[in-house]
Amino acid sequence: MCGIVGYSGPGNSVGPIIEGLSRLEYRGYDSAGICLKINDELQIIKKEGKLDNLKALINEQKPFSHTGIGHTRWATHGGVTTDNAHPHGNELFAVVHNGIIENAGTLKKELQAEGFVFKSQTDSEVFLVLLTKFYKQNNNTLQSIAKAFNTITGNSAFVIIEKASDKLYCLKRSAPLVVGDNKETREAFVSSDPFALIGFAPRIYFPQDAVICESIVTDIDVKINFYELDLSPSERYKFQSNAMTMDSTTKGPYEHFMLKEIHEQPSLIEKLAAYYIKNQGRQILDSLKSYRPTGWHLTACGTAWHAGLVIKNYLEQINRQSASVDIASEFRYKNPILNKGEIGLFISQSGETADTLACQELCKENGIQSFSIVNVEGSTLFRNCDQNFLIHAGVEIGVASTKAFSLQVLTGYLMSRAMEGTLDDPSLFKEIKLLSNRIGELCSNVESIKEVASEIYNKKGFIFTGRGKYFPIALEGALKLKEIAYVHAEGYAAGELKHGPIALIDEQIVNIAIVGPELFEKTISNIEEVKARKGVIVIVGPKGSSELEHLSDYYIGLDFEGLPNLSPLYVNVALQFLAYHIASLKGTDIDKPRNLAKSVTVE
Ligand code: M6R
Repeated sequence: MCGIVGYSGPGNSVGPIIEGLSRLEYRGYDSAGICLKINDELQIIKKEGKLDNLKALINEQKPFSHTGIGHTRWATHGGVTTDNAHPHGNELFAVVHNGIIENAGTLKKELQAEGFVFKSQTDSEVFLVLLTKFYKQNNNTLQSIAKAFNTITGNSAFVIIEKASDKLYCLKRSAPLVVGDNKETREAFVSSDPFALIGFAPRIYFPQDAVICESIVTDIDVKINFYELDLSPSERYKFQSNAMTMDSTTKGPYEHFMLKEIHEQPSLIEKLAAYYIKNQGRQILDSLKSYRPTGWHLTACGTAWHAGLVIKNYLEQINRQSASVDIASEFRYKNPILNKGEIGLFISQSGETADTLACQELCKENGIQSFSIVNVEGSTLFRNCDQNFLIHAGVEIGVASTKAFSLQVLTGYLMSRAMEGTLDDPSLFKEIKLLSNRIGELCSNVESIKEVASEIYNKKGFIFTGRGKYFPIALEGALKLKEIAYVHAEGYAAGELKHGPIALIDEQIVNIAIVGPELFEKTISNIEEVKARKGVIVIVGPKGSSELEHLSDYYIGLDFEGLPNLSPLYVNVALQFLAYHIASLKGTDIDKPRNLAKSVTVE
């Protein structure tokens, strides 16, 4: 969701804040703002639209300040306007917020009845007004922060600066927040993501929920204090040295991060396999050998949910273990049946998705173990689970998830093979190597997919179909297309079309039909049904088939040979390219599609 950065130190806060916001802009890009303490006043500069708009204002004004906070917004309460952009401030405090204040409506009415005036439609301003109200009563910032935080409900993170000092304050509930410091340069930092602090803060701290962090920079030192809400000292935080590097923060020769991330897949796949089969990761997987939970509950959102559907297939087909896969926002409210001996498996790129985190909590409360398949080491999910299976994708910047999906599925597959006890089977490494090679070939021969994209990009709607293990890929292909190309697309089980959606078919509708070597004839019959109704047929299937050539309007031929378990990943990369090139022809903002944010930290 929103990106937050704060700085206090001897230098100009503008540089690190704007650099941090640029790195986090993929998380939210409706508007951006900064508040700087200049000559003992809190000065706010903010602007609707992308961060570049704010940067232009800052370039004109060239402000200098030792203390500041910045924010890039993904709107929840209140439209996309400059007034609703963060920070929100007054003569005493300025606040940036990530999350939702659920009781904001009631509190706002009460505060307005008491005579407080609001400048925005945001829920975030309610926190500012509460803080100010309490401060006017007690003249104590820490106490007022605690009181304001105790008054609100919902999951949020706040960073606060005040007119009275150069301190940075922050706290959170079920939302990402990291505090950092650099002892040598005497600088303190806060962010919603450690990624923003790479190169700035060699030491980072992850506070737990409801811990107030207070950063104090003096002439000789920088100090971070942690308090409980009753203001007693807190030890509820985790310290970590910040070992992240910057190599993932540039696009290199690629036009978009999404394209770069698609191209990274062959080498990341091989590296992940080496890590889990031959290197340090092997020990983690070996702990699963002969593992027999009584059942698996997989939960995730979006693309990660689709990865869960593929992994369920492995657990059932390879291990013959029963597995359910739920969308996290459904699972958490359905009063799920959770029995001892079962495992909750949570799949997430960011490790910060609010609904997925809530499902993990639920499993924990019910006494069942939690495993994660996660990318971000140190994320909330990572910290809360009993066992983590990292996917080592590096930073994924494109809002449309690509490499994370492939590596989530591959990790699930390796977990399944570990339980089966076949990690040393030479055919396993061979299949993974073959997958990497095939994806590599796709990456260097994308012309035919580009041509198909140019023929169909203006069509009215897209129905992706697949059967068996390709059904989740149909769902994922459709999601990728709709999120970056803004066209209606849905994924269906091929055999299900005739039960309703076939009514949509006409010459303006494209059926992207995935045909695997399995259930070949049956899938063909499903395509015939669409063809008979004048739908445009794009087949993604085994190459060299005259039958498929004849049946389709456009044919993307792939070599499925030697990929009995991993072909869904291969097909998926072809669909990633197709979505990318359709979006590119439509001229959309591929890395920052409208209305989306990279990490969804509100429910
Ligand atoms: O960080 P997570 O994997 O938990 O995120 C889950 C979804 O929000 C995410 O996969 C989303 O659907 C992507 N935009 C899809 O490309």
